[in-house]
Amino acid sequence: MDTSIPKLPLLLKPFLLSLFLSLIVLAFLATTTPLHRMTSSKTIPPHNSTTNKDLRIRPGYTNYSLYVQRQLNKTLNPKLRQIWKTRDWDRKVRVFSEFFESLKRRGLLSNTSRALSIGARVGQEVAALRRIGVADSIGIDLVPSPPLVVKGDFHAQPFENATFDLEFSNVFDHALYPWKFVGEIERTLRPGGVCVLHVSLSRRADKYSANDLYSVGPLIELFKESKLVEVKKVDGFGLDTEVVFRKRK
Ligand SMILES: C[S@@+](CC[C@H](N)C(=O)[O-])C[C@H]1O[C@@H](n2cnc3c(N)ncnc32)[C@H](O)[C@@H]1O
Repeated sequence: MDTSIPKLPLLLKPFLLSLFLSLIVLAFLATTTPLHRMTSSKTIPPHNSTTNKDLRIRPGYTNYSLYVQRQLNKTLNPKLRQIWKTRDWDRKVRVFSEFFESLKRRGLLSNTSRALSIGARVGQEVAALRRIGVADSIGIDLVPSPPLVVKGDFHAQPFENATFDLEFSNVFDHALYPWKFVGEIERTLRPGGVCVLHVSLSRRADKYSANDLYSVGPLIELFKESKLVEVKKVDGFGLDTEVVFRKRK
C-alpha cells in the first residue's frame, strides 16, 4: 500500500504560496495602521487638500436635514436647556471669562473688539465676553437664545464680510463641512482679525460631533487666508487644545 502523502496538483502550489504571502502582508498592515484610521468614517473631500487624513467626517449623515435634526434634538431639549441656564451657568461663564481674559493679556482681544461666538448654545461665552468688558459681542447657534445668541448656521453665517475682530468657537467638531465652517470665519473676520478655536485632539468629542480631528494640520490647511499664531494646551470642557489664527491683512 502506498502511504506517502499525495502530491498537490501542480497549479495549486503557486496559488497557496501567493495566498500565504498575502496573509503576511495583511497581518503587517493591520499591526502598523492606527486603530482610528481603520474606522469606517471618510476623510473630507479633497478641496485642494493633500494632507487631510487627520480630519474625518463621521459616517451616517446622509443628508443635511438629518444632520441639523440631530443637532436640534439635543439643543432643544427643554430639561437640558433648563440645566444649562441655571445649574451650569455660573461655572461656565467663569471658565469662559478666564479664557477670554487670557486672550486679552496676549493682545488678541480688547474691550473695543467686535466678537462672535460660534455655536454658543444658551450664550455663556457671550455672557463671559460682556462680563470682562467686550460689550460688542454676540453668539450664533441653530437655536437662538435672546438676547445673547441669534439664530445662524455656522456653515453660512448671517453676517456681512469683514464684520468681526474676534471669532471664538469650541464646536469645530460639530461641522459637517469643516471647509465651509472655516471659510465663513475667514469671510466674516476683518483683515487682521483673530479666530480662536478650542478643539479636542487627544480624545474623541461627543456623540453629536460630525467630524474627528487628529492634529492641527488640517486646520492650518483649511485656514487659507490666515496664519497660525499659537497652539496651546487648555482644559476647556473636554477640549484640550487652543488654536489661534490671524487673518492676513
Ligand atoms: C457642544 S454644544 C457647545 C455649546 C457652547 N459652545 C458651550 O460650550 O456651552 C454645540 C452647539 O453647536 C450648535 N450647532 C451645531 N451645529 C451647528 C450649526 N451648523 N450652526 C450653528 N450652530 C450649530 C448646537 O446647536 C450646540 O448648541
